[in-house]
Amino acid sequence: MNRPQVLVARKVFPEVVERLRAHFEVEDNPQDTIYTREQLTARLQGKSGAFITGSERIDGALLDACPQVRVVCNMAVGYNNIDLAACSARQVMATNTPGVLTETTADLGFALMMAAARRIPEGERFLRAGRWTRWSYDMFIAPDVHGSTLGILGMGRIGQAIARRGALGFGMKVLYHNRSRLEPALEAPLAARWVDKRTLLRQADHLVLVLPYSADTHHTVAAAELAQMKPSATLTNIGRGGLVDEDALAQALREGRLAAAGLDVFEGEPRVNPALLALENVALTPHIGSASLATRRAMAELAADNLIAALGCGPQAGRPPSLLNPEVLG
Ligand code: DGY
Repeated sequence: MNRPQVLVARKVFPEVVERLRAHFEVEDNPQDTIYTREQLTARLQGKSGAFITGSERIDGALLDACPQVRVVCNMAVGYNNIDLAACSARQVMATNTPGVLTETTADLGFALMMAAARRIPEGERFLRAGRWTRWSYDMFIAPDVHGSTLGILGMGRIGQAIARRGALGFGMKVLYHNRSRLEPALEAPLAARWVDKRTLLRQADHLVLVLPYSADTHHTVAAAELAQMKPSATLTNIGRGGLVDEDALAQALREGRLAAAGLDVFEGEPRVNPALLALENVALTPHIGSASLATRRAMAELAADNLIAALGCGPQAGRPPSLLNPEVLG
């Protein structure tokens, strides 16, 4: 019997590709070429499934050009690169990798918040440039993190993991805004308090964005929101670049209307807005929130589990463990 054909669109762990080869005819991408839309369309011809990452965009036109595709498996928890409605309309399953990256991504978010708040990249650049000649009482003076107010916009798994770090490790007061309130049993151990977005913006000393990106959350933090924040506050974004109006952010940072920012994600990544690059008071990392070896491996394995189950192999055949659009299964 012919085995299903699948595409692994980016270079991933060879062991995971080998695991897929036990079930499928696999076309992989050891050169790690980032396919253009045309190349992706060509490579998907005859394929039943695709193992993708955030760099591949899946929409209705692409699916129409690749009618044999039955499942797209994202190796990421965020899935703004997938038009979910277009998938569902064509009975194509879509999956992501929730859960396995929560703690690692929260670690990075917290580190970036601290780096921005305590001016660590700026201090390192100063030192490496040979400019450190003496101690002075106000050198790299910065806002405290411990005991301050942590604001979290988007209180899903990662938001809660950041809240735990702040409340239990750093004695921070936790405020959050989310479409829905957490169960009291989740709020209580953190003394986390739901507030409206305006209160969050006005009261947070350190605001962290962890909400999913979509047309509805585009530029959730723009000039009007920045204007409500304390000039001593920091903003950290580990969600998606499009959550923030980067030009407005750069202007607020330049004019001292916001103390600092920590950014792991960018609107046009891997291109970074030159206005941000020109500023000292921004800590920048290249979208590495989930980048620990164990977590990336777990993400790849989960994406593979999804692909194997969706195409009718393995113990969970038929129902991928992290299916985003269960309506396609009727
Ligand atoms: C995610 O999982 O959404 C991350 O941002 C991808 O690295």
